[in-house]
Amino acid sequence: MKRDISNFRKTYSKNILNEELVSDSPLILFDEWFNEVHSSNDGSETNAMTLSTIDDHGFPKNRVVLLKFYSDIGFIFFTNYNSNKSISILKNNKVCISFFWEELERQVIIKGVANKTSSKISDDYFNSRPFGSKIGALVSSNQSSVISSRTVLEEKFNQLITEFSEKKITRPENWGGFCVIPVEYEFWQGGDNRLHDRIRYSLINNKWKKERLSP
Ligand SMILES: Cc1cc2nc3c(=O)[nH]c(=O)nc-3n(C[C@H](O)[C@H](O)[C@H](O)COP(=O)(O)O)c2cc1C
Repeated sequence: MKRDISNFRKTYSKNILNEELVSDSPLILFDEWFNEVHSSNDGSETNAMTLSTIDDHGFPKNRVVLLKFYSDIGFIFFTNYNSNKSISILKNNKVCISFFWEELERQVIIKGVANKTSSKISDDYFNSRPFGSKIGALVSSNQSSVISSRTVLEEKFNQLITEFSEKKITRPENWGGFCVIPVEYEFWQGGDNRLHDRIRYSLINNKWKKERLSP
């Protein structure tokens, strides 16, 4: 099978990024971009981000997770602590998260270190989830492990629905958040003729250094 997609090509022209006009704080710029993307899209998940980790064999692995909170402290997502990603993070907590926001021709790449969130943060978020999502977290108690069929999941789901119909579901200990504390941000804005704007913020001696990168 061979498919030639070399003519798939788009011009980018929605915006420019001027290093003199953007904030000295990457978090403020992130927040501005996040809000602009969120208000310009039609319900797609602005908070979906690609999380990259390094496995035991040195291979990177990317997957999408949902950003749930961001602040001066970091970027928080939730997952199963037995999953492949968590096992990788617990051995090497240097990670990369990135966002591709096609509607505004933007990409943000953040390198940082990930640490488990406090039990309180994980509890508060778990408790705010809908019933079905809580049950889902219990069903997939060993996220990333091999299972024999979908039926196994459905049977467990139905059994847990009955078991917890009148009981409070508390957060399983192996489920919770990670907070990614950034050390570098890169903001990419697609430009005409491939003259894209790239502004990198690097954390040096506790201060953000802003630089323009060649596209
Ligand atoms: C849009 C989208 C959102 C997702 N959100 C999450 C999430 O917030 N947490 C999570 O653990 N997995 C999420 N997933 C599933 C992950 O991509 C991944 O399949 C799962 O976490 C297992 O990854 P691992 O085996 O590398 O640990 C999401 C997938 C998609 C496509």
